[in-house]
Amino acid sequence: MTAREAQASTVGTAGVAVQQIVLVGLSGVGKSTVGALLAQRLGWPLLDTDDLVRERHGETPAALITTRGETTFRALEREVVLDAARRTPAVIATGGGAFQHSESRRALGERALLVFLDATPGAIAARLRAAPVASERPLLGDDIEARLQELDDERRHAYSHADLWVPAQGLEPEAIAGRVLQAWAGEAATLLRQPLRLDRLGSARLSATPAAIVDTGAERYPIWVGSGQLERLPERLRQLGLAGRVFLVSDANVIEAHGPSIARSLETAGIPGASYVVPAGEASKTWRVAGELHHWLAEQRAERRDLVLALGGGVVGDLAGFVAATYLRGMPFVQLPTSVLAMNDAAIGGKVAVDLPAGKNLVGAFYQPRAVIADIDTLRTLPRRSHAEGFAEVIKHALILDVGLLHLLERNAGRLTGGAPDMELLAQVTARSARLKALVVSADPQERGLRAILNYGHTIGHAIEAASGYGGEYLHGEAVAAGMMAAGRIAVRMGVHSDDLLARQADVLRAFGLPLAAPGVDARAVLDALRRDKKVEAGRVRFVLLERAGAAALHEDVPEALVAETVRSLVATG
Ligand SMILES: NC(=O)c1ccc[n+]([C@@H]2O[C@H](COP(=O)([O-])OP(=O)(O)OC[C@H]3O[C@@H](n4cnc5c(N)ncnc54)[C@H](O)[C@@H]3O)[C@@H](O)[C@H]2O)c1
Ligand SMILES: [Zn+2]
Repeated sequence: MTAREAQASTVGTAGVAVQQIVLVGLSGVGKSTVGALLAQRLGWPLLDTDDLVRERHGETPAALITTRGETTFRALEREVVLDAARRTPAVIATGGGAFQHSESRRALGERALLVFLDATPGAIAARLRAAPVASERPLLGDDIEARLQELDDERRHAYSHADLWVPAQGLEPEAIAGRVLQAWAGEAATLLRQPLRLDRLGSARLSATPAAIVDTGAERYPIWVGSGQLERLPERLRQLGLAGRVFLVSDANVIEAHGPSIARSLETAGIPGASYVVPAGEASKTWRVAGELHHWLAEQRAERRDLVLALGGGVVGDLAGFVAATYLRGMPFVQLPTSVLAMNDAAIGGKVAVDLPAGKNLVGAFYQPRAVIADIDTLRTLPRRSHAEGFAEVIKHALILDVGLLHLLERNAGRLTGGAPDMELLAQVTARSARLKALVVSADPQERGLRAILNYGHTIGHAIEAASGYGGEYLHGEAVAAGMMAAGRIAVRMGVHSDDLLARQADVLRAFGLPLAAPGVDARAVLDALRRDKKVEAGRVRFVLLERAGAAALHEDVPEALVAETVRSLVATG
């Protein structure tokens, strides 16, 4: 779309064109680069608040902070921001801290579509290392990644109040600018008219925001994580504009533990509906059970304005999501994950499916929920083994994307597992891990590139599951844990990473009670499964390998012989 077309459509749909775009986010995330592209595409000037500070005061922000202190610099920056906020049209790239002050937030919000560009500290640090401009990033110091993490902890909450959240990792600057322009042309005016938006932005004590947003460019939905979320379900549904009947799908275990409280919550709010309970376990994730659910919805005369609620682990989420995707060519659905695995992984990203005798997840779709609402309190009733299993995915997220989360897991394994986990910490870790998954699927919803790194440990993990019979000896997370160890050993042999990292991975998996190998599984069956999975081509196997703690990449060139040798030692007993 050209700038003129975009502008025309904004005027056409909303009446008023929004004449300002403000970019917020951490230092180094790419605000200036993306800002320049936006300015060029729109034919608007680019105002970079750091540059404006320099023009007005004759010194860079770095120099000002060093010579006059951060407090003084912030005051000077605020003046510049307030001035810039009055200029239209304009694209405004803000300094990393400029959105922390309530007065600046409100002023910027008055005319602008506020866009939060998000990437992990690890990815930003890698970017900065590749193009060092250290003198321009005064607050970062030597350990860039650790400092960025501190700033992220401090500032994310304010950034989350922006109108739009855009992944800035795994997407080229052009694509990021494209996402922003698309939203600007389509919905900016509506976003700016949100009730109480300016009051919210201008408040010194910012209200709670979702733990993460999934925004694929086509769909956007929040992920709420915390205690007491189920009680707030009616309120959340109202916020989402979901006013129809509720068709709750769950399994026998989950309904026994949590059915009464959710029923009470819906009844009190006067929300009508019905529920369908399937037997617990993978055996319910079938075409046949999906068909039964379709019939049930037809009997109930479910309509497109009604809602499918998936209350349970990954099995219920995948099954109910598949039914919602297909009934009436798509009904809205909301994920209420109740297992660690579902909260951190399965419920996020819109992959829904059922199994066939020929294989798992063979019939499915990409179909995004309207929201993911993870009530941490439900984990109190989750069996120990499922709890531990789910942490394989959390550890995976940490290993491939977030060394800070890895530290947190290493230091706190005891408080996160066992009979009485620390619920607050569990919520914090879940929010952080869910955010990583949200970031990756937002950048790559259809699994064309970046999303592949989520398959760390899964190549051999899936093969172990297939070889040992699904729902058999190894649960998914356990097979993935062994699969990550296999990937680690392969990486060490290929010189991709050190032995130390492999040992570190083993320690954290062990601390969460996860297996490091898969003794007793038939090696040949595992290798056959790998071949069937089409992971092998011309004697080479595609593998996600760690580059270092918190970073991973896809390798196309792993020798099949090395894989075979690794698998044989992984399954050897004793
Ligand atoms: N869609 C995706 O992207 C994706 C990703 C990963 C896994 N999956 C799928 O997820 C499924 C596995 O998910 P899972 O591990 O959650 O399995 P699950 O849904 O079978 O749940 C595990 C067990 O825990 C019970 N349970 C769940 N929550 C409970 C609670 N709060 N209290 C008491 N019992 C509870 C269930 O009844 C079940 O017996 C697989 O089918 C897998 O293919 C999907
Ligand atoms: Zn998995």
